[in-house]
Amino acid sequence: MPPSTQSADPHRSDVPDPSAASAGGDSNSRRTAPEHTGPDRPGADRPGSTRAASSGAASDGAALEGAALEGAASKRTEPGRPGSQRPSSQRGDPAPVDPGALDPDRLEEVRVQASAAIATAGDLDELAALRTLHLDGRGAPLALARRALGALPQSERVEAGRRHNTATAAVRAAYEARLAELTAERDARVLVEERVDVTLPGTRRPRGARHPLSTLSDHLVDVFVAMGYEVAEGPEVEHDWFNFEALNLGPDHPARSSHDTLYVDPVGSGLLLRTHTSPVQIRTLLSRPLPVYVVCPGRTYRNDAIDATHSPVFGQLEGLAVDEGITMADLRGTLEAFAQALFGSGLATRLRPSYFPFTEPSAELDVACFACRGEPARQPCRVCSDEGWIEVGGCGMVDSNVLVACGVDPARYSGFAFGMGLERAAMIRHDVHEIRDFVDGDVRFGLSFGTGN
Ligand code: DAH
Repeated sequence: MPPSTQSADPHRSDVPDPSAASAGGDSNSRRTAPEHTGPDRPGADRPGSTRAASSGAASDGAALEGAALEGAASKRTEPGRPGSQRPSSQRGDPAPVDPGALDPDRLEEVRVQASAAIATAGDLDELAALRTLHLDGRGAPLALARRALGALPQSERVEAGRRHNTATAAVRAAYEARLAELTAERDARVLVEERVDVTLPGTRRPRGARHPLSTLSDHLVDVFVAMGYEVAEGPEVEHDWFNFEALNLGPDHPARSSHDTLYVDPVGSGLLLRTHTSPVQIRTLLSRPLPVYVVCPGRTYRNDAIDATHSPVFGQLEGLAVDEGITMADLRGTLEAFAQALFGSGLATRLRPSYFPFTEPSAELDVACFACRGEPARQPCRVCSDEGWIEVGGCGMVDSNVLVACGVDPARYSGFAFGMGLERAAMIRHDVHEIRDFVDGDVRFGLSFGTGN
């Protein structure tokens, strides 16, 4: 509320007047300046009112200063309260002013009683209640005695004020002492009751493991990166041109049917879910400068019914090298390193003639079975069904039509490529019999491959 509004109210005896403030002086004297105490203000001229006490205290010397300031402070809270000018009985004041409350005997009795009660407080809550009751509540005997100071003749006031201060200080000291005791007791009790055994094991959150396909893919990629290859990726929703046409599989190519393609709406958009990672070869040749050495891991899709060894979604890993003077010997050497990374060192590899539209010549890569190594003494073999060889993937020299589709001069550049299925490799490597295990999401499956990778 702005000061002008306050001072305009003649019934608010405790509202400071800004004009008094500009006249200087401390807040107490401003609040009690006689020219602002009209006769129609209830209690303004009453002897013994708080106003008179604080005015007198302020002028009477240091002994009363504490009490006077406290009185002023308690009054300062009143302006905002409705009805603060009602007669004292209606305001709920504890008792009429009683100058006898400052008698030395009465004060001593109050001190003794209050200190004794406080000294026997059972807990901190009780102590707080006793503090209000005896020390600083509105009805506390010491508070009532303080109010009585203003009713004393000036000559007695200083002495009575001292007595009151002494008694108050004694009760306050008793309070502080008991407070210290009870706080110490409470702290000691809490230490025992709320004791925490820090040696107990915590609540552990079970950790999963990396997916075995991710682990295998990363491992193989690492092997190729170590040989100087870069990693290349492409979209899973691919265009027919990248997935088929540029790879030498024209619209009517019979090999298309073997891809069981999943097409993407709208019809005629040419969009499909890529059936292999080979389109990344095309994207790489179109976007990167030659020579190119890339390894391309990724997810692929085919319209296959799910069974123990087929899944409509599966992972592949593709490799491509296009440079001047690349020969089939480079392919063999690279695949040997690849096969060893996959199944272990010292395993023989072989290339079987095959056909892929995007390689010429084409081959299937077989790796000697790591379980029986083709030795009859170690058979029957569950891993290779006594074949002695494990079929790993397809490979070949990049068909010149593919190079031309990507703007690469086949007279100058040649290359090799290979591709393999990740699930199949992982199933052989880890003796997994159900391809579904890779997609079921059972955390125990992943955990069985260990958490340390
Ligand atoms: N893309 C073939 C498939 O999905 C695998 C493949 C064979 C990739 C020969 C190649 C390759 O790069 O040269 O069956």
